[in-house]
Amino acid sequence: MTGLFITLEGGEGAGKSTQIARLGERLRGLGRSVVTTREPGGSPRAEAIRESILAGHGKPFGPFAEALMFSAARLDHLKAVIRPALARGDIVLCDRFADSTRAYQGALGAVHDDVLVALEREVVGSTRPDLTLILDLPAEKGLARAAARRGGSASAPDRFEAENLFFHNKLRRAFKLIAKSEPDRCVVIDADRGADEVAEAIWEYVERLLGDDIKNDSQAHEIKENV
Ligand code: TYD
Repeated sequence: MTGLFITLEGGEGAGKSTQIARLGERLRGLGRSVVTTREPGGSPRAEAIRESILAGHGKPFGPFAEALMFSAARLDHLKAVIRPALARGDIVLCDRFADSTRAYQGALGAVHDDVLVALEREVVGSTRPDLTLILDLPAEKGLARAAARRGGSASAPDRFEAENLFFHNKLRRAFKLIAKSEPDRCVVIDADRGADEVAEAIWEYVERLLGDDIKNDSQAHEIKENV
């Protein structure tokens, strides 16, 4: 079986980590090997870059430099974790990927499209996600959830959580635009409901993808046998 690459995207507090854990469990229940990972991070070198970015060390350099930092982390993550897993036939579930760079550093940071397209071509190459699930919910709700997760005021918001509501509304629109521009790869999932309902909505798309995968696999098999 070929590997499948599924990414989850969305604003703060959209419930990506809960949904990734649930989806991973369900896929493992079907006997599939699943690797769950995240960006920025996912490999030791990329995790080191993550720490630095989320501590705000990239901010003084500006969004372009931050895009480079995220890209450097992605380069290592792809090489060390994602590509080997896909080559083994695993399903890779990744919490954020290149669409986050397009939304945060592109739409919000005003890094030019051409620059991000070129970066993506160099860094991601042909390892594009088979499916991207964009968890969508009103910015106010997402921020409230993220604050609750931190335990009220017990810990400080990270680099991007600390941005204002205007930023997060713009972020939501940016993700929706990405989904519109690549409808074959992206689906927008209404995340403003219970975790069970969101999980079911996600499963509908993943099941379809698995069906296509099995179909493609048996077609490839038939072709091989007929040669
Ligand atoms: P994280 O704590 O993982 O946030 P979340 O739980 O919302 O996914 O922190 C990752 C932060 O980095 C998040 O605010 C989004 C941001 N980010 C970018 O700005 N660009 C990127 O390319 C990626 C992958 C993340």
